[in-house]
Amino acid sequence: MTGPSFPLTTARLRLRPFEEGDFEAVYAMESHPDVVRYLYWEPRTRDEARAALDRRIRLTSLDGDPSALRLAVILRDSGEVIGDFSLGVRSRRNRQGDIGFMFHPDHHGHGYATEAGRLVLGLGFDTYDLHRIAGSCDARNTASARLMERLGMRLEARLRETEFVKGTWCDERVYAILADEWRDRVRAPAMASQ
Ligand SMILES: CC(C)(COP(=O)(O)OP(=O)(O)OC[C@H]1O[C@@H](n2cnc3c(N)ncnc32)[C@H](O)[C@@H]1OP(=O)(O)O)[C@@H](O)C(=O)NCCC(=O)NCCS
Repeated sequence: MTGPSFPLTTARLRLRPFEEGDFEAVYAMESHPDVVRYLYWEPRTRDEARAALDRRIRLTSLDGDPSALRLAVILRDSGEVIGDFSLGVRSRRNRQGDIGFMFHPDHHGHGYATEAGRLVLGLGFDTYDLHRIAGSCDARNTASARLMERLGMRLEARLRETEFVKGTWCDERVYAILADEWRDRVRAPAMASQ
C-alpha cells in the first residue's frame, strides 16, 4: 500500500496525522461530556488525553502494526484542530476497513464531519484499495448514525445488547459501504457536481 501525501485538503478542511502541538485540541474534545457520552470512557483528564494523543501520533499508516491512520481535522480558515477521523484495516486479506470520528461540539452542525468522511472513504477505496469500509455506533448515538447515512453507508445490523458500557447494556448499529457502491453511488455524483 502506498500512502497519500499530507496534508489532504477539502474545500474547508485540512487533514494530517496528529502532532504534539495538537494536545489542547485533543484535551478539549476528549474532556467534553457531550463528546464521550456514547464512547467507552468518561471525560478524560489532561494525563489521559496526553496518553491518548501519544497513541494517535503513532497511527500514521495503514502499512504498519497497528494498521491505522488517525487524522487531525483542521479548519483551513483558522488553522484550528476541530476533529479526529480515523481509518483502520480490520483484515488485510479481505480488504476490510473501518472508520471512527469525533468532533468538538463547537463545530458540530456544519457538515465538517461529512466533508472529512468523504475524503477518508475516498482514501480507503481509491488509495488503499479496500473492498468494504464499516463503522459502528451505540444505537442511541443518532448523530453518528446520521453521519454514516450521509456518507452513503448502509445499516447492516443492529446488534442487541452486545456491550455493557457505563452501567448499561447497549445495542450497536453497524453501517458499511462497498467499493462498488462508493464508486457508483457516492463518489460519482459528488465528482460530477465539482
Ligand atoms: C458524530 C459527529 C461527528 C457528527 O457530527 P455532526 O456535526 O452531526 O456532523 P457534520 O459535521 O457532518 O454536520 C452535519 C449536520 O450539519 C448540517 N449541515 C450544515 N451545513 C452542512 C453542509 N455544508 N454539509 C452537510 N451538512 C451540513 C447537517 O444538516 C447536519 O445536521 P443534522 O444532523 O441536524 O441533520 C458528532 O456528533 C460527534 O463528534 N459526536 C461525539 C463523538 C462520537 O459520538 N463519535 C462517534 C462514535 S461512534
